[in-house]
Amino acid sequence: MLPVDVYINRRQAYLVLIDNRYGLDKMLKINHIYLENHHISTTQVGNAELLDQFRRDVTRGLLSQPKRLDAKYFYDENGDALFQAIMKSPDYYLTDCELEIFKDRTAQLAQLLHIDQGPIELIELGAGDASKSIHLLRYLANKQIRFRYIPIDISAHILRVLSQELSQQIPGIQIQPETGEYFDSLHRVTAKSTCRKAVLFLGSNIGNMEKNQAAQFLRRLHQMLQPGDFALIGFDLKKNPQTILRAYQDRAGLTSAFNLNLLQRINRELGADFEVKKFQHFQNYDPLSGACRSFLISVDDQLVHLNGISIPFSANEPIDMEISQKFSHRDISDLAFRSGFRRVGALYDQKQWFVDEVWRAK
Ligand code: TRP
Repeated sequence: MLPVDVYINRRQAYLVLIDNRYGLDKMLKINHIYLENHHISTTQVGNAELLDQFRRDVTRGLLSQPKRLDAKYFYDENGDALFQAIMKSPDYYLTDCELEIFKDRTAQLAQLLHIDQGPIELIELGAGDASKSIHLLRYLANKQIRFRYIPIDISAHILRVLSQELSQQIPGIQIQPETGEYFDSLHRVTAKSTCRKAVLFLGSNIGNMEKNQAAQFLRRLHQMLQPGDFALIGFDLKKNPQTILRAYQDRAGLTSAFNLNLLQRINRELGADFEVKKFQHFQNYDPLSGACRSFLISVDDQLVHLNGISIPFSANEPIDMEISQKFSHRDISDLAFRSGFRRVGALYDQKQWFVDEVWRAK
């Protein structure tokens, strides 16, 4: 286990590196997020059940061939902070594109969701800090539309921060945060709801599933909605491969740190002994399939101990970490068709790098 002060020192060294490339401003910003985050708590060991599940998933993933780790575990408090830094980084274009849509096209978005048709529940899957949806929420509040906002996220920490922030920014907002995985939380929410709904699934999070999983996910989502309910889904479009690769292989090394942080989390919470410096982040993008994948590569032959089990890694062996699928228009219409939704509108950023699609349940 890494003592916390060593960890802080390592992080600070790392932030100085960012300083050299991007100037003091950027450094202070990221440092601030980190320190603020660190102040809240250093270790977030959830309840025993969650920890058990974490242990089982990690063990199973590392014993399978090829080895893999489940990306939902990226988001401990350090992971949250690094993720926020990724979203602000100049190389990561996705957030800027989608933010532009939410800021500049709010009225069209609201119109596509038929906001004049009475009270609505806005359910956001993987809400994070809601930096994009807040523009829609503010618009609805200003128009005095009755709505409830239900952010769902795997990170209880980010939901606490979000709830505080939103209550300040939009006084009187009805907000009902739900911690957990997408479908468990959706079940809880839809079971007790009688209101019409729009499910927001932004940030191209749909791309973090393999193609068939994504289709299955959207089919299940469709089954949980009533005819006439909406889904608002963000897709990152296929584009210049260098642009895409640069977003995940950023100059500041944030995505690398984000991936390696999961090994640190496994050490801290599950008592494993990953030597983090013996793993390297590797990203690739395949312009044919549109798959952009993250791996951690073992630098050497090595043994990692977890739970009394020794897990052998050979030199250059990859751990499959995550996919960020990119989409063509054809890919998107296939997905809508396979899941039973009707496409009712699409909003693009100026560069046409990203699209927010509005789909309606049949
Ligand atoms: N869904 C976004 C994407 O695929 C955000 C994201 C998820 C992400 N995991 C990530 C961004 C890992 C960078 C690295 O881009």
